[in-house]
Amino acid sequence: MKVTIFNASPRGSRGNTHIMAEALTRGLRAAGAEVENIFLVEKNIRHCMGCFSCWMKTPGKCVIKDDMAGLIDKSMGSDIVVYATPLYTDYVTGIMKDFMDRMLPIVCPQFEKDANGQTRHKKRYAKYPDFVLISNCGFPEAAQFEVLKVYCDRKMRFGKTNVIAQIYRSQGELLKSEDARYKPPVERYKELLSRAGEEIAKNRKLSLELKQELEKPLIPEEEYAREVNKSCEK
Ligand SMILES: Cc1cc2nc3c(=O)[nH]c(=O)nc-3n(C[C@H](O)[C@H](O)[C@H](O)COP(=O)(O)O)c2cc1C
Repeated sequence: MKVTIFNASPRGSRGNTHIMAEALTRGLRAAGAEVENIFLVEKNIRHCMGCFSCWMKTPGKCVIKDDMAGLIDKSMGSDIVVYATPLYTDYVTGIMKDFMDRMLPIVCPQFEKDANGQTRHKKRYAKYPDFVLISNCGFPEAAQFEVLKVYCDRKMRFGKTNVIAQIYRSQGELLKSEDARYKPPVERYKELLSRAGEEIAKNRKLSLELKQELEKPLIPEEEYAREVNKSCEK
């Protein structure tokens, strides 16, 4: 099974998102998956120009000559894609948004109704990879991911891809903390992520039990807020 992780943090391999991706990768590989981590910040991805050439003039192909064609090939050649992004202004980073916009060639312009009676575009491909979203944020509580959850629900509804797991980590800045007090909860969390990787590779889903474990705060929310405020005064 081939899994591609598209990491959209501007911090690339130095980011908290990659700490999550690495732990997940460990579990995916332990279960036999072939995993590639791609740092989108290192790629040349221009904005979608909205010309619709990929629909009307060169069906399935974008006219912009940058790294996106290769990234679409990697995505469509995967059994599972993992979108990995920090939460930026309640949503994904600009890098991820450009990447997602430039996926337009993978669907056709024609409209059709989905099972809920909402309009969507027709598929261009017979098969689309299953989808996993992982994200971390700087605020203390899990409720910060409301908008991303709505996005995933819509992705499900439009049916191009099957969302098999959403993993959200609030208190994300703890992941790389050097403070000895936070090492044990972070190590435990990485273990859970690794188990999640194994489950996803083996079962193509994440059990509710593990999802709930993953969503628990690393430390009490008030303590996290207090520590962040303290560090701002230094
Ligand atoms: C421009 C910008 C916007 C952000 N917006 C949010 C936000 O809406 N909510 C939040 O909890 N954290 C927000 N953060 C904090 C990041 O999500 C957090 O620092 C995260 O750990 C970064 O992950 P990374 O190291 O992988 O880039 C924002 C950070 C930046 C730089």
